[in-house]
Formats: sequence, C-alpha cells, structure tokens
Amino acid sequence: MSYSPIVCNSPRVTIIGAGRVGSTLAQRIAEKNLADVVLLDIVSGMPQGLALDLLEARGIESHNRQISGTNDYADTANSNIVVITAGFPRQPGMSRDDLLKVNAKIVVDAAKNAIAHSPHAIFIVVTNPLDVMTYLAWQTTGLPRNRVMGMAGVLDSARFETFIALELGVLPADVKAMVLGSHGDLMVPLARYATVNGVPITELLAAETINQLVERTRNGGAEIVELMHTGGAFFAPASATSIMVESIILNQSRLLPASTYLEGEYDLNNVVIGVPCRLGWNGIENIVQVSISDQERLALQTSAASVRVNIAKALEILAET
Ligand code: NAI
Ligand code: 2OP
Repeated sequence: MSYSPIVCNSPRVTIIGAGRVGSTLAQRIAEKNLADVVLLDIVSGMPQGLALDLLEARGIESHNRQISGTNDYADTANSNIVVITAGFPRQPGMSRDDLLKVNAKIVVDAAKNAIAHSPHAIFIVVTNPLDVMTYLAWQTTGLPRNRVMGMAGVLDSARFETFIALELGVLPADVKAMVLGSHGDLMVPLARYATVNGVPITELLAAETINQLVERTRNGGAEIVELMHTGGAFFAPASATSIMVESIILNQSRLLPASTYLEGEYDLNNVVIGVPCRLGWNGIENIVQVSISDQERLALQTSAASVRVNIAKALEILAET
C-alpha cells in the first residue's frame, strides 16, 4: 500500500504524552521550524498550559509554528507523524515486568486512538520497554512496517559517540557510531564501525578502553536515573527523536538506527529490534544490511530473543484485560 509523501507546507506532528520527553520534543520540533505540534496528555490542562508556554516563546525563538495542547484525540486529526511518549519511566523498585504491564495498555490505547484520527500517519514510539511497545503500536495500527518505528538506537549511538568524544577530547560532531539491537542491557554497539572523521576508533583507542565505553553506553539510561533519583533522561531522548522526525519530514534519507519489525533481515523474523534504516517521506525507506561479525550476530540474536519473550508477555497481559 502506498501513501502520499509529506509535501504540505505545514506538516503536523502529534506527541502523545506531554511529560518530560514529550514536551522537550515539542520544543525541539517547533524551534527547528519543522512542523506544527499537537501535545496530548491525559492530565487535564497540562498539555494546554505547556503549549501556551511554548507559543509565548515563538517571537523570541523566531519561528511561527502552531503549538496546541489537548486531552482529545479529535484535535490530533490528520497528523503526518504521531510520536508516542505516553507512559511511565521505570521507578525505583519497579520491575521491568511492572513497567511492561502498565505501559502496554497505555501504548495500545494511544495507538488505537491516534490511528483512528490520522490513518496515514507515520508512528514513532519512545515509551519503554521500547522494542516491545513498538511491536504493540505496529500491531494495533495495522500499518505497514515501514510506517511504525521505535526510537532508541539514535539515543544509544549518541551516548556512545559522546563517551568516545570525551575519552579522545575531540569534537562530538566528528564522532559517528551506530548502536543496534534492543534498547537496554542487550544493545549491540558496533565499535568496529565507529569513527572520528573516518578514522576507526580501533586505531585511536585500546580495546580495553573501547570495552569500557561500550559498557558505559549499555548503562547510559541507568547512569542518569541514578544521578537524578526521580525519572530519567529527556534532553538527549528528545533530540534523538527530533532528528528522526526531521529526516522523515524533510525526506533527508538519513541512515539512522530505528527499531522496526524484521522479516528475515539480519536472519531475524517476527521481532522488533534496532537496525540501520534510511528515514524519509515513507517512514523507513529501506533497512540497510551491513556486514556484522559472528559475535555481533550472536549478540543481535540474544537481544532479539529477549524482546520476543517480552512481546509474548505483553500480549498475554493484554489478553487478560
Ligand atoms: P513522564 O512521566 O515525564 O511523561 C509521561 C507522560 O505520559 C505523563 O505526562 C503522563 O500523564 C502521560 N500519560 C500517561 N498515560 C497516558 C495516556 N493513557 N495517554 C496520554 N498520556 C498519558 O515520562 P518521560 O520521562 O517523558 O518518559 C516517557 C516514556 O519514554 C517512558 O516510558 C520512558 O521510559 C521512555 N523513554 C524512552 C527512551 C528511549 O530511548 N526509547 C528515552 C527516554 C525515555
Ligand atoms: C534511557 O535510555 C531510560 O530509555 C531511557 O534513558
């Protein structure tokens, strides 16, 4: 099935969940002058207040994007992109299963309501556990797989790039890296492909140092939660999501890691996991298969196996309710 690309002058992005990630993303999208933004939340008055606050900064920030807040899905109609950030971050004492339970229902509800009003939208899921929630959104909307993706790899890659830049004392923008797999302990940073302006980091850093940076990347979300005590990261997650939105709206065809449903790519089936994708007007324009080592393939398979277990758990939970 094919859909019209995003060629209108004022594309519309709905963000479901106007919490810390959602509201920061709204700011990024508006201030980059990418699209009009609708912020939706279940808390009455909160998205409206945030939207007004952002609107009052328009003159200072020199953009003219519309920003509105709502509790009603009817106001999100005809969005080009829907970003789902609704749900809870993991709280101290909360197990991964608890998070799965509470967020699965929220994401299914959000996807169902959003698709009813924006049948041609492209969906980007941010809510954790990311790969499982992306699967649920894809299944609930019934959209082709290229139109539903998850954001995690861009954030994990940005963290890896940051730690490499800090270690080498180089400009962060000169570091390029790609992290694949699921979002969590089992992510797969491709250290062999990481470069500083084309120079592989394996030429610049000892293997032991690279391993330490990989470990810090795997632990990147938890490191911030530990420091902040309440809640987790939101600035970098919002930036990461905004470049996915930008690549789609401007048809930039950037090669970015995105979580997507796999049908044989990387020898994986029936699972959602992060792989390199080109993002443009059709969402995921194509999945790019790069050569990976046997060790990286095994790590991807382990990552996928864990996502599959959690997808099954989520489907069980949803069937019970
Ligand atoms: P937050 O608690 O600040 O915001 C969540 C918002 O969702 C709240 O405003 C809440 O009222 C709203 N919400 C809850 N149920 C809703 C529903 N049924 N409909 C509409 N809105 C609803 O949380 P934060 O920090 O913004 O994180 C949001 C999610 O994103 C969490 O699950 C977090 O773990 C995840 N996350 C994922 C990242 C990734 O790399 N994929 C990175 C950072 C956060
Ligand atoms: C992060 O990686 C917890 O997914 C969230 O910051």
